Amino acid sequence: MPNRDSIEVLLREGRTFPPPPEFAAAAGMADPQIYDDAASDPEAFWARCASELDWIHPWTKVLDWKPPHARWFVDGKLNASANCLDRHLKTRSNQAALIWEGEPGDERTLTYRDLWRETCKAANMLKSLGVRRGDRVTLYMPLVPELAISMLACARIGAVHSVVFGGFSADSLRDRIQDQEAVLVITADGGYRRGAQVPLKRTVDEALEGCPSVKNVIIYKRGEFPIHVQEGRDHWWHRLMADQKIACEPEAMDSEDMLYILYTSGTTGKPKGIVHTTGGYLTGVNATFRWVFDLKEGDRYWCTADIGWVTGHSYVVYGPLSNGATVFMYEGAPDWPERDRFWSLVEKHGITIFYTAPTAIRAFMKWGTQEPARHDLSSLRLLGSVGEPINPEAWVWYHRNIGGGRCPVVDTWWQTETGMIMIAPLPGQTNCKPGSATMALPGVSAEVLDQKGEKVKIGGGYLAITRPWPAMLRGIYGDPERYTSVYWSRWGNEIYFPGDGARRDTDGFFWLLGRVDDVLNVAGHRIGTMEVESALVDHPWVAEAAVIGREHELKGQAIAAFVTLKDAHKGSPELMDELKEHVVKRIGALARPDAIFFSADLPKTRSGKIMRRLLKDIAEGRMLGDTTTLADPAVIQALKEKYGEEG
Ligand code: WT7
Repeated sequence: MPNRDSIEVLLREGRTFPPPPEFAAAAGMADPQIYDDAASDPEAFWARCASELDWIHPWTKVLDWKPPHARWFVDGKLNASANCLDRHLKTRSNQAALIWEGEPGDERTLTYRDLWRETCKAANMLKSLGVRRGDRVTLYMPLVPELAISMLACARIGAVHSVVFGGFSADSLRDRIQDQEAVLVITADGGYRRGAQVPLKRTVDEALEGCPSVKNVIIYKRGEFPIHVQEGRDHWWHRLMADQKIACEPEAMDSEDMLYILYTSGTTGKPKGIVHTTGGYLTGVNATFRWVFDLKEGDRYWCTADIGWVTGHSYVVYGPLSNGATVFMYEGAPDWPERDRFWSLVEKHGITIFYTAPTAIRAFMKWGTQEPARHDLSSLRLLGSVGEPINPEAWVWYHRNIGGGRCPVVDTWWQTETGMIMIAPLPGQTNCKPGSATMALPGVSAEVLDQKGEKVKIGGGYLAITRPWPAMLRGIYGDPERYTSVYWSRWGNEIYFPGDGARRDTDGFFWLLGRVDDVLNVAGHRIGTMEVESALVDHPWVAEAAVIGREHELKGQAIAAFVTLKDAHKGSPELMDELKEHVVKRIGALARPDAIFFSADLPKTRSGKIMRRLLKDIAEGRMLGDTTTLADPAVIQALKEKYGEEG
């Protein structure tokens, strides 16, 4: 490889990556005029986007903004499942809507007609069990087509779905079911992950102890998993479905009716149930999907996220299907049975658009270029990234080794709360810089502000969204005060505070710098330090715990916990393992601490605040920063002596 092409050289030169000419020539969004059009009248702009959808009844007002509460497309009536399915039946009946591959290698294809039919039947199945408009339905399933079908079936009858990622524990699942008072749970007998069986139904059984609101459980049969069926409460999916009629009129939902609740971590011990509604959300994900992924007829689009996260809601289900795209879904792990599974899938299914997370890209880098090189990836024409800041090295590696240098890479910044992509390139026109999510999308207003709310033109500060946007969260389920205090209080109630640090460069590009609150991003998953701390202190021997994120080569951040034990208990390797398992039981495997440090005391300020910054220094094996505000310097001295060298 010629020297001037090395990654270091490219980055040092601050090289930009303009759209490849061939790509730009065919791109759907090549004209930069769209930014000005949108900015000159954002409401008219979003109304044009909303008109792309099928409305049962038109809206009378685009936006009703009473900060911090927005209503979009007021009085409009529509149905999300009809927009994802029925309206494609005339033109795409026999086109694949979902192409699915299970981890063991089983395959299924559902055309738009198939997906519509199964959704209608599933909607009738829910009705037959008494589920009504406005009821909450919890989905705890593997990544199978029936998960998408269940979501669309809820949407069809106006029930609110709430997907809980299959990696969450029984305790986490129970908390969520109780918070939303779900009437029904849809699960599967089990799922597959890295060749192992995930006992989903068993976890549901455990979670349901203490959930009186749940009257029925539907079990999709994924394999041969031993399960317990509770007479009167539990029903097999296939048995119920066998009796259902196909005809099922979609409910006319108000634009502001709730579509789903999705839980995400914040700075307290209790996850927030983020509420998304129908008209604005669908408008936002429909438009942004088309723009950012430059959708074309014949595309095969694969987003590797699990549907348990917002990425799966917006960009596996509602965005792509409302656009009539063909979506590929893979159930399992990237390294099963071998480390080239993803690339073998790209080759086998002719994937054209591929959307994944930086943590995965860093794993691919570590596994080596020989893995993608073994496969023909020439079908790919666009690559995406989401979930955390992408380091420039990973961006360039992805561009070169997966995209063969010919595919634009779109780094997309957004959140569970924003519902839709907010900051990202338009691949047909933006000159990308590796590591920067570039600019706010048309119709989105983003700034970097300082503590006081002054605009930072060039330099670092906090990311802020300065206008309402259609897919914005409408609240935190059951907690209106928290909605205002968490998101709309930093600079008054008209400016949204996402919780991310950001920098703007001389071109006005955004560089996202990670969370500025006590929220960690572990392998692209959001975990609150307080959640892990509450899980730890819930162990009978633990007196106090402080959790921090320390840098991790693959995961971005890994969880490190400093724990003080109650008198008479001593730290040991066995107790370390026990505490890690305790967190897994309380939250789920995704929150398992990487390291536990036992300490007689935690470093605190004189007012009793734990000095996490110092703990981070110790966990990352660094020289300690300023320690002058410590109440008791001996604490940190002891920690340093114990853990100083090993880091
Ligand atoms: C947080 C949101 C958006 C779906 C997946 C995560 C971080 C997300 C990027 C990006 C830098 C990013 C932010 C954000 N984040 N995408 N492209 N560049 N940071 O959704 O669990 O709600 O987490 O993920 O810190 O606030 P989420």
